[in-house]
Amino acid sequence: MALPTSQALLKDKQIASPTYAIELPSSKPIIFMNPNAQTRHFPLNKSTFAVRSNKALLSIGKAFKFGPSDIGFEGQSRSYGRGNSLGGLVVKAAATAEKPRKNYPGEAKGFVEEMRFVAMKLHTRDVAKEGKKEPDAQPIGKWEPTIEGYLKFLVDSKVVYDTLEDVVQKATYPAYAEFRNTGLERSEKLAKDLEWFRQQGHIIPEPSSPGLSYSKHLQELSEKDPPAFLCHFYNVYFAHTAGGRMIGRKVAEKILDGRELEFYKWEEDLTTLLNRVREKINLVAEGWSREEKNHCLEETEKSFDYSGKLLRLIIS
Ligand code: HEM
Repeated sequence: MALPTSQALLKDKQIASPTYAIELPSSKPIIFMNPNAQTRHFPLNKSTFAVRSNKALLSIGKAFKFGPSDIGFEGQSRSYGRGNSLGGLVVKAAATAEKPRKNYPGEAKGFVEEMRFVAMKLHTRDVAKEGKKEPDAQPIGKWEPTIEGYLKFLVDSKVVYDTLEDVVQKATYPAYAEFRNTGLERSEKLAKDLEWFRQQGHIIPEPSSPGLSYSKHLQELSEKDPPAFLCHFYNVYFAHTAGGRMIGRKVAEKILDGRELEFYKWEEDLTTLLNRVREKINLVAEGWSREEKNHCLEETEKSFDYSGKLLRLIIS
């Protein structure tokens, strides 16, 4: 029996990948590729990630004011009445009809909201009202930080921020470049703080295992698993602006005479900076399949494990 040619295989693939047709009232349908069909290959290779994060591609959907779920992610069809941006166009899923699925928690607001939802559940109930975990045996309010422990935390945090900031500078995957110069960078700030401690006569420790192993994990993910890498990117920067700041204030009151370190200062309005990064993550995630999004969300727990080990250095 003759083996199928590559063209024949390709043809089969096209048939297997449903397409979505937008029927214009009087002209031929415009064919849009099924977003699922774009994201068959997992984990992503560098070039597909680049293509899928391409704003021009994403703007195709945006111009018509629909995102992946609107163009029939679930195979449902939707019609838009007169007077809206589609002017009476009917968007039809040519794929086999499947039951519409429920939104993931936070999905309607964008992928970052999904990430936030997962992260909040991993908090202990005593620190955040959305938290689902039992309070720690040693709640933060009862922490007895030491300068030595805090310095270890700052040094190891710098190793982690150095890694994140280096990854986006190198941008092995072009989409990482979106996250350069966000204004959230912490590496230089930490360098200033450590220099200040040195000038006060403190010995700056060498990086230790929690920071080094987290850095290694981030490095590896950045090379082979962009959705998981971005999960850490989000959690590290956003956690620092929330719980991280709170912890910083408590530690400063106890051992630094209330001095606010550079680590907890941002050059611009923090809400604006965070919103900008939220938008960018949302945009990149628009190019991910549901499977990739879930994979990203599943990494949240590891992010908590690694960051939790860093935080515990404060009381070591
Ligand atoms: C003892 C440690 C921690 C405390 C006290 C803490 C506390 C908080 C608090 C109070 C919030 C704000 C809740 C709100 O917006 O209503 C928050 C948000 C958040 N935390 Fe934590 N947290 C801690 C550890 C962590 C860790 C280890 C991570 C992950 C690495 C993390 C990730 C986040 C994220 C992603 C948010 C949402 C930020 C946003 O929406 O802007 N937190 N945390």
